[in-house]
Amino acid sequence: MNLKAVTGLVVAGLAFVGTAVADTAPADVVWEDDVMVTASLTGAPGSAEAGVEVLTQRSQGNCVACHEVSALPNVQFQGNVGPALDGVASRWTEAELRGILVDAKHMFPETRMPAFYRTTGFIRAGDEYTGRAANPETFGPLLSAQQIEDTLAYLMTLTD
Ligand code: HEC
Repeated sequence: MNLKAVTGLVVAGLAFVGTAVADTAPADVVWEDDVMVTASLTGAPGSAEAGVEVLTQRSQGNCVACHEVSALPNVQFQGNVGPALDGVASRWTEAELRGILVDAKHMFPETRMPAFYRTTGFIRAGDEYTGRAANPETFGPLLSAQQIEDTLAYLMTLTD
């Protein structure tokens, strides 16, 4: 992304300060060509720093359970179920990466990667890690719109 685009995003983000902008709900995510999600789920850019927390905290995305990230050498016990995320922003566009985070099954139909921002279409709605059935009153996505955008902001720093 060039500087002008970044500045544009920052300005767009500032324009929203003070207005309560509702996050895009999982069911309202707009897909392009079935694999890309172009619009920010929060209406603003995320924080790469907060994204590191999502990637590494077990209570959040815990992406490192399945993916290695060489840029985070202090994080122990990184997994290799999925490909290393090194250089991922050189392989995929921002819209494709947002799509992979929202629901990786759009890009990789057979994948074991959890759908992090989806609440419908499960055979039995429940927690993907524990297998417990969901309480329909409280069932939400694994990550919030903000956490998705923060994770994406960090992934966009991983270029070759
Ligand atoms: C249970 C394991 C698992 C978890 C947890 C997981 N992934 Fe994945 N991910 C995979 C697998 C497996 C693939 C390879 C796609 C496929 O199945 O063909 C993948 C693919 C990807 C890709 C595409 C990589 C490439 O180079 O093509 C990205 C980006 C990605 N994951 C990001 C994440 C992020 C960010 C998180 C945490 C929010 C995460 N993943 C959590 C298993 C996982």
